[in-house]
Amino acid sequence: MACRQDSPRFRIGVAQCSDDSWRHKMNDEILREAMFYDGVSVEIRSAGDDNLRQAEDVRYFIDRGVDLLIISANEAAPMTPIVEEAYDKGIPVILIDRKILSDKYTAYIGADNNEIGRAVGNYIASRLGGKGNVVELTGLSGSTPAMERHQGFMAAISRFPEIKLIDKADAAWERAPAEVEMDSMLRRNPKIDAVYAHNDRIAPGAYQAAKKVGREKEMVFVGIDALPGKGNGLEMVLDSVLDATFIYPTNGDKVMQLAMNILEKKPFPRETVMNTAVVDRTNAHVMQLQTTHISELDRKIETLNGRISTYLSRVATQQVVLYGSLLILLLVAGLLLVVYKSLRSKNRLNRELSEQKRLLEEQRDQLEEQRDQLIQLSHQLEEATHAKLVFFTNISHDFRTPLTLVADPVEHLLADHTLNEDQRKMLSLIQRNVNILLRLVNQILDFRKYENGKMEFTPVPLDLLSSFEGWNESFQEIARKKHIRFSFDSMPDADYRTLADVEKLERIYFNLLSNAFKFTPENGKITVRLSSWMKDGQPWLRFTVANSGTMISAEHIRSIFDRFYKIDMHHTGSGIGLALVKAFVDLHRGLIAVESDEKQGTLFTIDLPKGDTPVPEQEPIPATPLPTDAVWTTEEEDHEMLYDSSKPTVLIIDDNADIRSYVQGLLQADYTVVEAADGSEGIKKAMRFVPDLIISDVMMPGIDGIECCRRLKSELQTCHIPVILLTACSLDEQRIQGYDGGADSYISKPFSSPLLLARVRNLIDSHRRLKQFFGDRQTLAKEDVCDMDKDFVERFKGLIEAKMSDSGLNVEDLGKDMGLSRVQLYRKIKSLTNYSPNELLRIARLKKASSLLASSDMTIAEVGYEVGFSSPSYFAKCYKEEFGESPTDFLKRKG
Ligand code: FRU
Repeated sequence: MACRQDSPRFRIGVAQCSDDSWRHKMNDEILREAMFYDGVSVEIRSAGDDNLRQAEDVRYFIDRGVDLLIISANEAAPMTPIVEEAYDKGIPVILIDRKILSDKYTAYIGADNNEIGRAVGNYIASRLGGKGNVVELTGLSGSTPAMERHQGFMAAISRFPEIKLIDKADAAWERAPAEVEMDSMLRRNPKIDAVYAHNDRIAPGAYQAAKKVGREKEMVFVGIDALPGKGNGLEMVLDSVLDATFIYPTNGDKVMQLAMNILEKKPFPRETVMNTAVVDRTNAHVMQLQTTHISELDRKIETLNGRISTYLSRVATQQVVLYGSLLILLLVAGLLLVVYKSLRSKNRLNRELSEQKRLLEEQRDQLEEQRDQLIQLSHQLEEATHAKLVFFTNISHDFRTPLTLVADPVEHLLADHTLNEDQRKMLSLIQRNVNILLRLVNQILDFRKYENGKMEFTPVPLDLLSSFEGWNESFQEIARKKHIRFSFDSMPDADYRTLADVEKLERIYFNLLSNAFKFTPENGKITVRLSSWMKDGQPWLRFTVANSGTMISAEHIRSIFDRFYKIDMHHTGSGIGLALVKAFVDLHRGLIAVESDEKQGTLFTIDLPKGDTPVPEQEPIPATPLPTDAVWTTEEEDHEMLYDSSKPTVLIIDDNADIRSYVQGLLQADYTVVEAADGSEGIKKAMRFVPDLIISDVMMPGIDGIECCRRLKSELQTCHIPVILLTACSLDEQRIQGYDGGADSYISKPFSSPLLLARVRNLIDSHRRLKQFFGDRQTLAKEDVCDMDKDFVERFKGLIEAKMSDSGLNVEDLGKDMGLSRVQLYRKIKSLTNYSPNELLRIARLKKASSLLASSDMTIAEVGYEVGFSSPSYFAKCYKEEFGESPTDFLKRKG
């Protein structure tokens, strides 16, 4: 507010022609008067008696857009165009004192110079008593006062015939030219009675010139202006320099009043003429007193004005301070109000908060109480669950034996071809349900194992894609029967190889899919998706099992993986399946989640870490490299230590230790049993021990039973060994795969032990029939021996015949020739023929000897050497043992 400067209401430009004391007085009066009007600014420019400069001043005001122009034209003619231009542009123009040669102005204010000239003429005529010589020194001859003052003078003296204007010169309103001109006139005119000076600056110039020549007393000097103050007209009258002077009123106040009337659209006179009066010795003193008094008053007014301005600015400042203080006061009051209100609301909030706190504390106490109760309940529940689990475990153990005893006979009964359709149906029903019971019992036992931390975790390299594709086969039939759209998608080009416990992964997969098939209605849809993705920079594998139609509520979903949790009584199942699935997923350090809604159905998502695969908590199974020659040939002692030649050897390959020990228990009375925990170990042991029979599980981590069988059947050392495949899965496709792999027999779990024993015995016996192939009494039945073995036998026979005469020939050399180690040759030959290679060699030698004795004239000693015996006596001994008579007796009989 203090800095506010209002733009003026009116701007007035004053273009003065001259710069002298008369003009100063007028300018002061204008400015002083302007102070009485609000919002008026006045700018005064002085041209210094120069027409061009004054025209520029007027142009300046026009360009600044002043609201009113006050002009005193230096000379009338040169100034007329610019004044007309301003007037034509709509700017009100007031002419003061000096006019132009046009009436394009708004108003004129000033004295009547004609009248003044006339008054001067009359005064001089009267002063000179109607007779005398007068000289005239004029103002600037182009200015209207000079012209009019001369005309008026001439008009006055024309009435006095003896008053003569004898000389006239232009003194341009100033003292210096006046003095020069007067000097000339004095010289030209010996008698001058009066000097008519156009103003009070010209008059003293003339006086000075006359005084210089000592003639000042002989004439009177009359001037115009009558200004008060030092050296001005009034003082010169009092000092008797001038005889008289005539008042030429400045009246700046009146000029300003006129201007304001015009600007404020008030009525105003176009011409304002001010009066003149003579000042001579008679009234000069009074005039001086008056003017001094007026000046004094003016000074006082100005002082007062100054003070008023100071007070006004002080008041303005105080106003600003006041308003500012008021504003601050208001702000403070507002602030106080806000603070007061905040304090009040703070107090209220505090009260509310303490109330809420109290309530919360109460709730907390209640919750703590409830929590303690819950903890207690959960302990009780835990104990109950534990007791339940222990109970189920015990019961399961108890159930397993009778269940197996039910399953076995049922299977036997089902094998009976004489059963009628109804009987078969009923037995199948029993078999199915016994199998379900066995599965449930096994699940409970597994879960117990998991809870006790005894669950084995055996990760092996595995390709999820091919595993899943394989497992999916098992569900095609049910999908077809229930008209369910069963689809399997996988992201192309992704790597699904990982480390996983195959058995457990299979259980997870089968459990989820079995559930899906169980709960999906006819014509529903089941989709399995396999994908790989990155989580926290680590690769993960994900598979989802989605089925339409069933919806598990949010309440049930929370507990779905809890053991013994059942959604409701209408759902079948023990409630342990999904708990076990979660346990298996946990073992893999994986995650399982389930979502379900009415629209989409149910979706199980399993995420398994890939690459950085979970480290098993149990002893990891060491990688079992395929056997190499180096292994085969260095472990003879081991083999011989285990080998009991009196009994056939059976190799059991199964990753389930229970099954191994069970089968071992069944066989141990009649067979030497060797065990292997997986396919790789099985192949290795088969190579080492060359057993008489192999019983292998199909589903095993790493190399499964079918692959194991295929490999064994493709190796010379093992191709003759009969293989029985054992599996929990009785699907036909797997049987076909098993037989394709070269399996000799296929038995489903749970198996009947008599069946297994009978199968083992039959297979070993049927292979033993071969053992007589070297005897002439036996011919090989084509179907009893594989091509590889036939080749092997033929080669071996040929080898013996070719080399038998070499008495140094040993099994080592024969093995080398056949591409086998001594042990392998021994086991292969023993297994195929029930003879050791040495026995076979001996028999072959003796048979050859027999035929030589019968068909040649060779001596007994010659024959013995011919067939490789190193001494005739040993030959004779062996011959007798083989044929029951000595060679000598034979020759005698032969005669
Ligand atoms: C002032 C003045 C006066 C004179 C008047 C005529 O500038 O010279 O002395 O009376 O002008 O215009």
